[in-house]
Amino acid sequence: MSGTSSSYDPVQVTPLGEEQVFAMRDAAVAAIAAAADLDQLKQVRSEHAGDRSPLALANREIGALPPQARKDAGMRVGQARAAVNEALAARTEVLEAEAEDRMLVEETVDVTLPWDRQPRGARHPITMMSDLVSDVFVAMGWEVAEGPLVEAEWLNFDALNLGPDHPARTMQDTFWTEPADNHVVLRTHTSPVQARTMLTREPPIYVVCPGRVFRTDEYDATHSPMFHQVEGLVVDEGITMAHLKGTLDHFAQAVFGEGITTRFRPSYFPFTEPSAEVDLVCFVCRGSGTLDGSTCRTCRGEGWIEWGGCGVVNPRVLVACGVDPERYTGFAFGMGIDRTLMFRHGVEDLRSFFEGDVRFSRAFGTEI
Ligand code: DAH
Repeated sequence: MSGTSSSYDPVQVTPLGEEQVFAMRDAAVAAIAAAADLDQLKQVRSEHAGDRSPLALANREIGALPPQARKDAGMRVGQARAAVNEALAARTEVLEAEAEDRMLVEETVDVTLPWDRQPRGARHPITMMSDLVSDVFVAMGWEVAEGPLVEAEWLNFDALNLGPDHPARTMQDTFWTEPADNHVVLRTHTSPVQARTMLTREPPIYVVCPGRVFRTDEYDATHSPMFHQVEGLVVDEGITMAHLKGTLDHFAQAVFGEGITTRFRPSYFPFTEPSAEVDLVCFVCRGSGTLDGSTCRTCRGEGWIEWGGCGVVNPRVLVACGVDPERYTGFAFGMGIDRTLMFRHGVEDLRSFFEGDVRFSRAFGTEI
């Protein structure tokens, strides 16, 4: 190639020779192509096109070359820098477009999504049923009565004709509190509210009492150590079993619909005499036991559903609670609220009421 001359020192020219300049250019173009995103490209730009990049340094050296060499070297370096800038511009365009596409996907806002989905929560089905029951009776002029969950043994049992040795005591598996000689229990039924009411009010008494009760039951699909009952009590002059029957028929229809009446089966409770179990006409098959040709699942083909217990208040209870049995008579009844909800809504597992899953409550409606 060009021969040696006094004014053209090949040693000095070497860094700006074709090979070196092309190598710098190619390294830059390769690095640009390899940059995977705009951040990496920024780094590559400063390394290969910045003030301290090999090509920028080479450019600076041109001035120091002998005049004959300047033109060639200038052209080579200039072309190489132009190629690098072009590659940078092209890669920037590609990466910017990619970044934008990615942003459009990642930051997508679906404007068709509902914007007001703020769950309001839902009232618990047991609360709703307790209120419904209370409303039915309040509409007839009754009052809602309440009592404590932690109750005196005497009110939970003795006042209700369940003396210490009464065999029916063991039917209600009781949570006793310590110390035992305080004789305090977690109430095993809502019936002590009957005693409390009679002890604190003069007849006529018309009260309904929904509330929690406790028994040492296993926690399974049909039992729970805590569940809910509703108690009703009437004490007035001339009250008979007929009033009880009429009241329960009205109650049944208010909760289960027109035509859903009750029947009584003889039974025993210490606090009522006579006593009965109350059954309800099956509100699904309306007493036929069959539905569309097959056995009704709600009443299991019986046509009737067991609902609760009831009876005429035992005079011994009236006496224990300071009510004159010569002048007054009364009736009482008690039902399970959870149980009522279970068959009314086909809930198969009692535990669903106590697991706190708002989706379960919501299925009963979100009326406030
Ligand atoms: N206390 C009863 C129970 O828990 C239910 C009951 C039955 C209540 C008859 C009553 C009644 O008021 O008259 O099993």
